[in-house]
Amino acid sequence: MKVASIVGARPQFIKAAMVSAAFARAEISESLIHTGQHYDFAMSELFFEQLGLPKPQHSLGVGSASHGAQTGRALEAIEAVLQAESFDCVLVYGDTNSTLAGALAAAKMHVPVAHVEAGLRSFNRRMPEEINRVLTDHVSEMLFVPTEGAVKNLRDEGIDEKKIHVVGDVMYDAALSFASLYRDRSAALLEGENLRGNDYFLATVHRAENTDDETVLRNIIAGMNATSEIAPVLWPLHPRTRARLETLNLQPADAVRLREPIGYFEMQSLLVNARGVLTDSGGLQKEAAFHGVPTSTLRDETEWPETVTCGCNTLTGADTDRIVANAMRCHGAQPELVTRAFGDGHASDKIAQLLLQNFS
Ligand code: UD1
Repeated sequence: MKVASIVGARPQFIKAAMVSAAFARAEISESLIHTGQHYDFAMSELFFEQLGLPKPQHSLGVGSASHGAQTGRALEAIEAVLQAESFDCVLVYGDTNSTLAGALAAAKMHVPVAHVEAGLRSFNRRMPEEINRVLTDHVSEMLFVPTEGAVKNLRDEGIDEKKIHVVGDVMYDAALSFASLYRDRSAALLEGENLRGNDYFLATVHRAENTDDETVLRNIIAGMNATSEIAPVLWPLHPRTRARLETLNLQPADAVRLREPIGYFEMQSLLVNARGVLTDSGGLQKEAAFHGVPTSTLRDETEWPETVTCGCNTLTGADTDRIVANAMRCHGAQPELVTRAFGDGHASDKIAQLLLQNFS
């Protein structure tokens, strides 16, 4: 059995690292196709190095562009790979432009598509990711679903029950399996930043809806500035956000420490010791919940409602007052309440076994 896995953006490297390792255990042959959507060392290669992901068999180098151009370039390049080699199925992850390109290329060539992290919905069609998720789910033959909430979303859209497989969350697999590696780095990282455990906030912002509108971005920065009066805010900057701050000449307060993008281990390590998190990332919201760290999600909706119902996550939007009010909160939920919602830490092995049952 031979699988083509499509990756392109940072969170996909984390998910693929877990699934690739499960494929190796199950003796499934995998060809990794990297679209090149993310290409900076700290956004791509660093993750391959840290997580032990094999070097991609195909690097398509599509780079940055508008949504149509980026998706189109990736679609064309993936199609060429699928024409040259035959695969039993194409595996796509999450909700990026690379996901949609892989799903479309495969479905139109009648290669079955399997989707990891299927069924998530924000119900906000203005988000490019929502379009990517819905379309990918509807051309997929196998939908690997992380949560019960995601199953309901797929049923509501009339997806054939036989295609839906609840496996748990592959990022939860990663959080468990790499725990000793990232916990080991904590002391050195905190010392390097001159921070004390539970006495700083960790922030990330990258969504177009937060960076592209100047008023929204200013409100978020005002929220970060006010939060930094409680404790320092460490903010590794996504390249898009750095570019926007430079263009708009926005300079947060000194206690908001702007940093370059960091690797998976550094992020997890800083997360487990943080007093709180401010983010618009789906992955970080969830990881914060795994560790019971209180989170302000800088959006009005989330694809991971389980993080909210368990009491760990609050949707503050880009509302400065709500961001600060939530940062005052000291305790998140018990991690056990949350982790139960995300499976048993073996989602990747379940995916490998289900693919074997279906395609070999
Ligand atoms: C993409 C995904 C998003 C995911 C995120 C993870 C889509 C629609 N969005 O958003 O779901 O949460 O990845 O980070 O696919 N850039 C660089 N160097 C890089 C990568 C990006 O400078 O290595 C800059 C470019 O200016 C680019 C911008 O960042 O235009 C945005 O990158 P892009 O891949 O288009 O989308 P993300 O915001 O990263």
